[in-house]
Amino acid sequence: MNSGLFITFEGIDGTGKSTQLSRAVRYIRKCGHRVLVTREPGGTRTGERIRELLLASKTGKLAPLAELALMYAARAQLLEERIRPALARGAIVVSDRYNTASFAYQGYGRGLGTPAVRAFDRVICGTTQPDMTIILDLDPERARGRALERDSQKRSRLDRIEAQGLAFHKRVRAGYLAIARSAPERIKLVPADQSIEELQRQIRELIEPLLAGREQNSRLATRKS
Ligand code: TYD
Repeated sequence: MNSGLFITFEGIDGTGKSTQLSRAVRYIRKCGHRVLVTREPGGTRTGERIRELLLASKTGKLAPLAELALMYAARAQLLEERIRPALARGAIVVSDRYNTASFAYQGYGRGLGTPAVRAFDRVICGTTQPDMTIILDLDPERARGRALERDSQKRSRLDRIEAQGLAFHKRVRAGYLAIARSAPERIKLVPADQSIEELQRQIRELIEPLLAGREQNSRLATRKS
């Protein structure tokens, strides 16, 4: 049986992450793989209710640790209901955000620090860590402009976290850069200031070796059995 593969997409709001993710998923499926796509916070019924609480502006002020705990509550549900079963049956899981977002947004953005986030992560994610995390990187001022433009097209408003000021998003971005530097073999930083097509080409280049490795493993397993 194929071994599962776990790929996550990250970046500050307005980097074009969701567009790139759906194109990458289309490509992986075209290569003949089964893919479970999910998003955070959310991805389960309970998780979507927690998302609503986390992102609705009417929620008002949340203590940073409460925000972190809610992110991990939604993640625990998603891991149990969807991610771990999918990986166990050999699927490829692609998630729009996962634990790196908590390190960047709550650890750096809210100033809770890495050790506090790691404490939750050890208990809740444990060994279920992404095989690859792709961080789309963009200057926060440009990203904010794009997020505002997108929201005005969709007639929606910035959510509670997007509505945080520029200084917050600068800290989050600095967090993503530091995290990428700390594990360059697994966490890949891609400049998002490029055309959609060029960005997608670079993302595929990152994903292809993982897909090839997985096919090779499954051939070996078939030969052995
Ligand atoms: P996202 O779904 O990417 O927003 P959108 O659909 O508007 O692009 O993410 C929702 C917000 O939640 C985003 O501002 C980042 C934030 N977030 C955290 O602060 N910590 C986390 O652990 C996660 C997963 C998301």
